[in-house]
Amino acid sequence: MLELQQLAKDWEARVLLRDVNLRVDSGETVAILGPSGSGKSTLLKMVAGLESLDGGRVLFDAQDITALAPERRRFALMFQDFALFPHLDVQDNVAFGLVEQGLRKAAARAQACDMLARFGLQTFARAPVTQLSGGEQQRVALARALITQPRVLLLDEPFSALDAELRLQLQTEFRQRIAEFNMATLLVTHDEAEARAMAQRGYRVLDGTLQLLW
Ligand SMILES: Nc1ncnc2c1ncn2[C@@H]1O[C@H](COP(=O)(O)OP(=O)(O)OP(=O)(O)O)[C@@H](O)[C@H]1O
Ligand SMILES: [Mg+2]
Repeated sequence: MLELQQLAKDWEARVLLRDVNLRVDSGETVAILGPSGSGKSTLLKMVAGLESLDGGRVLFDAQDITALAPERRRFALMFQDFALFPHLDVQDNVAFGLVEQGLRKAAARAQACDMLARFGLQTFARAPVTQLSGGEQQRVALARALITQPRVLLLDEPFSALDAELRLQLQTEFRQRIAEFNMATLLVTHDEAEARAMAQRGYRVLDGTLQLLW
């Protein structure tokens, strides 16, 4: 279980976030809504360890991981603009996390190909990522995020660059993967319908703190 206790963040002498308390079970998705500039992306980065805290703690399975480096948390963060590596093909994008963990390239590629097959993307394995559509790139980005078997998935507006029909399709696909991989998932989105379709609970960032919506 992911647990946020009393998280706080100041920005330029003003309080951005305060008293942020949240528990997310493995396999559960919690949505975070709120106006632009309210601190949603900052909150995800704090959970990932990419942004410092001005107060509070991050725990996983009751262990305090606040001081743990991002790469040692086994958390995956996915942004709206996919952030795939344009100089690598699809297979090597997906294999990247495993190579970083020290796996040999051939073994990492084999696992990447298995993951791509599981996602129905095997025909793209050798394609440059720049040749893929937006939806295909988002699927590859998810495959890449999941290959290291993260305990926590942090999604920041993952579908906002896609058209309405594709959004619905990917919401369903992502929901299935989250259940299958049993991750505690935090979903930041502007779209309340999307949040309700994907998340068991939803909060709004209001005056720097989380207000329960459902
Ligand atoms: N490194 C930083 N740490 C904390 N806050 C920052 C940092 N850089 C910028 N900010 C400010 O913090 C506020 C919150 O930004 P953040 O990106 O978290 O908002 P957001 O809720 O994700 O907005 P959006 O919906 O537009 O993505 C903004 O006013 C931003 O200018
Ligand atoms: Mg944001």
